[in-house]
Amino acid sequence: MDAIVVDGGRPLTGTVRVGGAKNSALKLMAAALLAPGVTTLRNVPDISDVAVMAQVLERLGAHVTRTDHTLTIDATTLTSHEAPYDLVVQMRASTCVLGALIGRVGRAHVAMPGGCNIGSRKVDIHIAGLEHLGVTISTEHGYIDASGPAHGARVALDFPSVGATENLLMASVLADGETVIDNAAREPEITDLAAMLNEMGASIAGAGTPTIMVTGVAALSAVDHTVVGDRIEAGTYLVAGALDSGPVTVTGFDPAHLDIVLQKLEHMGCLVVRSADAVTISREGPIRPVDIQTLPFPGFPTDLQAAFMALLSLADGGAVITENVFENRFIFADEIARMGADIRIDGHYALVRGVPALSGAPVRSPDLRGGAALVLAGLVAEGRTVVTDVHHIDRGYEGFVEKLRCLGAAVNRIDISDPDAAQSPSGGANA
Ligand code: EPZ
Repeated sequence: MDAIVVDGGRPLTGTVRVGGAKNSALKLMAAALLAPGVTTLRNVPDISDVAVMAQVLERLGAHVTRTDHTLTIDATTLTSHEAPYDLVVQMRASTCVLGALIGRVGRAHVAMPGGCNIGSRKVDIHIAGLEHLGVTISTEHGYIDASGPAHGARVALDFPSVGATENLLMASVLADGETVIDNAAREPEITDLAAMLNEMGASIAGAGTPTIMVTGVAALSAVDHTVVGDRIEAGTYLVAGALDSGPVTVTGFDPAHLDIVLQKLEHMGCLVVRSADAVTISREGPIRPVDIQTLPFPGFPTDLQAAFMALLSLADGGAVITENVFENRFIFADEIARMGADIRIDGHYALVRGVPALSGAPVRSPDLRGGAALVLAGLVAEGRTVVTDVHHIDRGYEGFVEKLRCLGAAVNRIDISDPDAAQSPSGGANA
């Protein structure tokens, strides 16, 4: 079993390039099911969630091959419409094949995702929306069973759910008639999915706004599409630059996708310089405390909440983080408290009182983003931090250790079943 070992205190500076967005690539892979033929996806991150989604597509009869960061998906013939529990339980995003299967074959049998460590991950909004499109749905024995065909309709979402918006888009692009999705999610990953579907021949307008219009078409064609840069991976490395003094440059993404995040970093005392596909961050003075409210895009992204909690743990004052998207996304706080952070949780509020320094400690990665944030905290903590359960981090960060070493961090990945490994130097670019 692996762990990430960090020796804090090294100056962090340099340039790191992010990959394609995990939260787009997974849905674009599902969208490939909508067209017979071979779809090519470029800038696909090499992360475990993509590998699981490839297994899901293979179970459905598609053939997936990877060459470096390019995937080809041959969805000419689908032989099943079932996304089985053993795969869906590994990666809840696999429920996004629901809409694509309804669109392509008019049937879907997808395991309910079940809860996870950040919240219940319900799918009631997905189901209500699909039923509005005329899809017959039953949920028995832990599975969603859906039978179409879907027809155009006006659907208003109770909450701008990213996954529900994506499933409704993929279920409606081949449906007869006009579909309007109101209170739709506006994340850049939605815009990327709509762009790919339109390249395939769909007729979608309004992606990125709260109202998306879809005119059903008869068929779609396979395409060659490049995945949008990962704004959350980018924000993670920008926080690394803010934790130390930088300058750190992050490339490979659209800074406009992090508007409110960059604004918060400036309010916290960072110098933020934007260019077309990169941001350079540095800091001279103290970290100033600012309150954070997570909200659907364009609000502050919940996926960067843990990283900002780490940053605020070292601010010269107190700040309140309000988590409005997931009901259980403060579990990271218990782990960073082991490093000396002073955080009080009350429901969906976290009061973070800045402390002069964090101290390295053995900690466990509670989830994908919390695990990455613990490594970030270790970069500036006094002494050694050992983060275990790093399989969570592998789900969404390709080459996390290597990219941090490029910035000068003393960080290494070890096999903790080897008793001597944890004692060895963590290495690092300047080791
Ligand atoms: C996507 O999850 C992302 N995952 C999440 O990133 C991200 O945090 C989230 O969007 C919000 O931006 C992927 O894209 C694979 P939602 P998703 O549906 O689609 C509730 C990461 O770390 N809800 O917008 O599941 C739900 O319980 C992951 O990369 C319902 O109640 O998010 C949650 O509280 C974590 N009923 C809230 O809405 C529903 O039918 C947001 O969920 C659907 C959702």
